[in-house]
Amino acid sequence: MTASLEKIINQKMAQAFNELGLDAKFAQCKTSDRPDLSDFQCNGALALAKQEHKNPREIAAMIAAKLEQENCFTKVSVDGPGFLNLNLSNEFIAENLQQMSTDKDCGITKTSSPQTVVLDYGGPNAAKAMHVGHLRAGVIGEAVRRIEKFIGNKVIGDVHLGDWGTPMGMILSEIIAADGDLSKTKSYDIDQITEFYKRANARCKEDETAREKARIITAKLQDGVAEYRKAWEHLRKVSVDAIKQNYDALDVNFDLWWGESDAHETCKEIVKIAEEKGISELDDGARIIRLDQSEKPKLPPIILEKSDGGFTYHTTDLATIKMRVDNLKAQEICYFVDQRQSLHFEQVFKAAEMLGIAPNVKMTHYGFGTVNGADGKPFKTRDGGVMTLENLIKLSKEKVQDSMPAAGEVEGYGAAEIERMVEQIAIGAIKFQDLKNNTASGYVFDMEDFAKFDGKTGPYIQYAIARINSILRKAAEKNITLGKIKLTLPQERELALKASQLDAVVWRAHLEKEPSIIADYAYTLAQVFSGFYNAAPIVAEENQALAASRLTLAKLVRDILVLLLNLLGIASLEVMLKKS
Ligand code: ARG
Repeated sequence: MTASLEKIINQKMAQAFNELGLDAKFAQCKTSDRPDLSDFQCNGALALAKQEHKNPREIAAMIAAKLEQENCFTKVSVDGPGFLNLNLSNEFIAENLQQMSTDKDCGITKTSSPQTVVLDYGGPNAAKAMHVGHLRAGVIGEAVRRIEKFIGNKVIGDVHLGDWGTPMGMILSEIIAADGDLSKTKSYDIDQITEFYKRANARCKEDETAREKARIITAKLQDGVAEYRKAWEHLRKVSVDAIKQNYDALDVNFDLWWGESDAHETCKEIVKIAEEKGISELDDGARIIRLDQSEKPKLPPIILEKSDGGFTYHTTDLATIKMRVDNLKAQEICYFVDQRQSLHFEQVFKAAEMLGIAPNVKMTHYGFGTVNGADGKPFKTRDGGVMTLENLIKLSKEKVQDSMPAAGEVEGYGAAEIERMVEQIAIGAIKFQDLKNNTASGYVFDMEDFAKFDGKTGPYIQYAIARINSILRKAAEKNITLGKIKLTLPQERELALKASQLDAVVWRAHLEKEPSIIADYAYTLAQVFSGFYNAAPIVAEENQALAASRLTLAKLVRDILVLLLNLLGIASLEVMLKKS
């Protein structure tokens, strides 16, 4: 395993500080904000001087003199009030990159203390078509799942299916209204079931008696009445099959297919624990927990058990936490769920703490913003319909097709190959459009440009990879082999420094659970490569050593981009056809 450039420099900084008897906590440096001036910068001398009541420039000068003894730096200068600007030698950068190029993980370091992390990024509801809202949870969660695994954590992705609430009772009630009983339920497919749900929903909105009926049936279902359970099992199975198809199309994967229903028994335990601990009370027939006893309560109380004996969304989440901690030994639980549920999670985390069901377990809600259309309203199809995932994938494929030659136009590429390519690019376009935005902010789905082969898109990066693949094939034909990296042109140096940031970037994405950091970096790296390749020919380069060095750089960048797309859950293609 190699250490990243940033880590090595930070080590050298810390060592210099220590040797000078200075507090090494100020030794941290980072990639320079002014690449025209320096490669790395350290602003620590300013804070240190303040603490020690000394002159910052003098301290900085002392550190600079020490660092200059190291031959990895060509220049260390003190600028402004006491900034340290560090410039690295080409040999040092090249040496580090050379090591990255021979490492199967491109030099990315693994965690030294693996954790068991449970990720909650599903939450689709049985009998409801999946829409773009579910897209974000799945796409972000899948990326985080891959990043966490890569770093070396034990990761468990749980779909946490909504299969247990009132909607289930509503559908059963609607079927009984139509058929007289539940005997025909087993013959219904997903479309029919979704249709029942829509009708039930409309009816319950208007009709109090219908709502009451649905409520009673839900309670009986949860109580285990056989007839309802059997019918429900069919609803659940058909829904899961449909949901799996959607997730498969997006290459979003789960290790566990637990649903809210699986938490039912544990919900009873939660109520019991709350009673035993004396933290719950009866309020109008319902058992509640007051989360905050202060005069101005910040968090409203939660209902654990309704007066009819039913459990709530809060109880289900608490029970699920208990199961994840007891059965899965979770040390960290991350929720990728719509921002609008942030109060719910604040309440759940507080209640979990009071119940003592997850001691020392880190729980975080990574709330994401909404996907909107160009009009700023929730994203719809062109004719105003709900944008289901299926619709979105279809739309994306049409867009991608516009940039590609038709089947038969390019020798060796028939309909099946083209279709496969279109599919991988279309999914990459959808996912990247989502992942390039940071999780917390919502975004406008850019219908015009999201699937273009240039601009900040998934296809652009896939294309950059395919282009390097083509360079590698041509180089092989000309017997150019990989060689020792030597940085001569400024564009080579710029690319080398960019590539050297890989480890730091992936670690930042891991620590912040923020895939957009990787998406951003992949895009910039592809762009910098493009600048490099314009200035530094490979196949046409006559100097063999130079060609071999550049080939190594190109292959490394290809490997990095493939790795990054893989972390984002996006496929890389060996070849990508583009309409001329
Ligand atoms: N099914 C829920 C919904 O549609 C989302 C579930 C999110 N996960 C959780 N553990 N609460 O709103």
